[in-house]
Amino acid sequence: MRQFKLSRRMFLASTVASVAFAGKIANAATPKDAQIENIIANMSLEEKAGQLSIFADGTRSNNPNINPAAAKQGIEEVKEQIRKGTLGSLFSAKGAEGAREYQRVAIEESKSKVPLIFAADIIHGCETQFPIPLGEASSFDLDLCERTAKMAAFEATAVGIQWTFAPMVDVARDQRWGRVAEGAGEDTYLGNQIARARIKGFQGGDLTSETTVLACPKHYAAYGAVQGGMDYNTSDIPETTLRDVHLPPFKAAFDAGALSTMTSFNDINGVPSTGNHHLLTDILRDEWGFKGLVVSDYTADEEMIKHGYAKDGRDAAKKSIIAGCDISMQSHLYNLHLPDLVKSGEVPMEVVDESVRRVLYVKKQLGLFENPYRSLDPKREKTDIRTPKAIALSREAARKSAVLLKNDNNILPMKKSGQKIALIGPLANDKYQTLGTWAIFPDYDNAVTLEKGLRNQISNQSLIKSVKGCEIEKPISGGIQKAVEAAKWADVVILAIGEKQEMSGEAQSRVEITIPKPQQDLAEAIAKTGKPVIIILSHGRALALSGAVKDANAIMCAWFLGSEHGNGLADLIFGDYSPQGRLPVSFPVYSGQQPYYYNHRPTGRPQGPKDERFYKARYIETDNVALYSFGHGLSYSKIEYSKPNLSAKTLNFTNSIRASATITNKGKRTVKEVVQLYINDNVASLTRPVRELKGFKLIELAPGESKEVSFEISATDLAFINHDLQRRAEKGGFTLWIAPSSVTGEAVGFELV
Ligand code: BGC
Repeated sequence: MRQFKLSRRMFLASTVASVAFAGKIANAATPKDAQIENIIANMSLEEKAGQLSIFADGTRSNNPNINPAAAKQGIEEVKEQIRKGTLGSLFSAKGAEGAREYQRVAIEESKSKVPLIFAADIIHGCETQFPIPLGEASSFDLDLCERTAKMAAFEATAVGIQWTFAPMVDVARDQRWGRVAEGAGEDTYLGNQIARARIKGFQGGDLTSETTVLACPKHYAAYGAVQGGMDYNTSDIPETTLRDVHLPPFKAAFDAGALSTMTSFNDINGVPSTGNHHLLTDILRDEWGFKGLVVSDYTADEEMIKHGYAKDGRDAAKKSIIAGCDISMQSHLYNLHLPDLVKSGEVPMEVVDESVRRVLYVKKQLGLFENPYRSLDPKREKTDIRTPKAIALSREAARKSAVLLKNDNNILPMKKSGQKIALIGPLANDKYQTLGTWAIFPDYDNAVTLEKGLRNQISNQSLIKSVKGCEIEKPISGGIQKAVEAAKWADVVILAIGEKQEMSGEAQSRVEITIPKPQQDLAEAIAKTGKPVIIILSHGRALALSGAVKDANAIMCAWFLGSEHGNGLADLIFGDYSPQGRLPVSFPVYSGQQPYYYNHRPTGRPQGPKDERFYKARYIETDNVALYSFGHGLSYSKIEYSKPNLSAKTLNFTNSIRASATITNKGKRTVKEVVQLYINDNVASLTRPVRELKGFKLIELAPGESKEVSFEISATDLAFINHDLQRRAEKGGFTLWIAPSSVTGEAVGFELV
């Protein structure tokens, strides 16, 4: 890959260049292949546009509401389009048998005989669901993230899917944005690691395998930075922040072998991503050498009209293809306009050919030319879904993804007998509320609720009294009274409250990231009984907790943990395992602090713990701190960290130093500990975050055991994107912490010389 230096002036120029054909195709030209060249040479413009078009398959979808337009199509209509070559891929449906027949038509009855790809949003599992991605990120367990992605691919390929629109690698620093649920949270370093693990899991290092899927890191780019956390909104981001914070997880995913990506709905600094030549060509192809394909998000090319960036569909198609968006999803704009745009000379044929070449190249990498029926085996559909191994993995992932925020007087874990439990709340026994957003092929029947999970583990069923108390967003007449009676009867209350699954995910932004009022009222009433309360939160984002919820004896983040939600939680509640989850997003004190993220830059007037409140960077109502910061999470043991020890006080640009700390389990249980390395660059040419995660290690500690955990640090770890958009480290002082969260630990200093 050639070295690339982009000045700010060049950046502006390239943004403007996206309006007209930039005059050259990306430097990272797709490798030429005789078979592919031959196909392209014999294709009509209409067939080329077809290869560059993907549509939802309403004929096999289990949820026609997702796409009513597609649902109206019949099988014969779809076959006719395949025959004519006007579509190149289908998505949002499953079923190996049906896919096989469509594939047969493509390779036997279409002129160019190019196989289709079958895609779907396999976001956190196929039929066996794993925790929502944000929940799973809490495990800080890369091996787990890889294994669940691998299992998701295994099940997806068993139902005839070859391409997943996942993982979502958008860094999300504003918890009002509903899609934070789909990613790895607010931190770039963690996002990079998880992106890599998920790509490895989905693609398995062998794209031709019958049991792997093509991954599609999305949404390129800066979708997680939409203003006000409102979905689809504008992102205004300096190029430095874009490259420092938002782009690295994409680069990590491509370096791990991802061969497709999806544009985002938002505009960045005025240019919608789907028409953004700077993003899709200058950075992606020229700078990074990406050889895969770019697909638009759902009608995102057409939406450039409403953005005010394209005059009409024809203009939108032209801007998208020239910017470097290879496939148009669902809008039909490429079918409708590309042939004519080429004929009129507005879009050079070579631009279209290069996009077709990329698509065919990816199809070839998937092994589809040799084996068009790969992953379309109806037999596997019967044997490879919800296998005992998949269910066990789902349970393991569930218990590793819950985060224990608070545990006063070690109220958790609980005994399995001898205590009366009032299980209260609308999220205690609702199967529909276990899987979370983007469970595209959900199996609610087999989903394990919290109540079921708890009951599975106790022998005397009369020890649990279950009362709903209220609906998620509505009171139930007499509900609170019944709940209070149950609480009075019990020794301990488990209160299952939070968000319903539709409160996070696409188009589910919230203004107040709080517990809905009827549930807050329920919690307040329960608190008045004086009984110990354990809160189990269901949620797709960090929440601003208050009142009786915040003051409960224990709080556990349960996100939406997937098919084995309740069993995984019961494993923790009854202490068969200790929680290992740590927060991948900060819980603010108030919603109004958003966007709040731990790795913010320092102001000139930070408020220290003992400082006066006036004339400091804070709010009238609260210090600008988190209630529970990124990285926080308790286990069932007491873990102590020594002060970090450095192998040397200085390093230069060619060597490295080792930072280590001794971590000791002072408690009585074997636990997993997420040891976190944070660094601050004291003085730099651009102000740097107060702390940044630079490494983490997941270790197991037996009671009384000590382990030395160490991290190698070189100048590369200290580099950031500077004014000239170069990633460089700068000489000077740094502070380092090896700590159990982003706000704890003892600091030590070192210098880069
Ligand atoms: C979402 C994408 C998704 C696509 C296809 C869009 O609405 O933004 O994340 O992959 O639909 O289902």
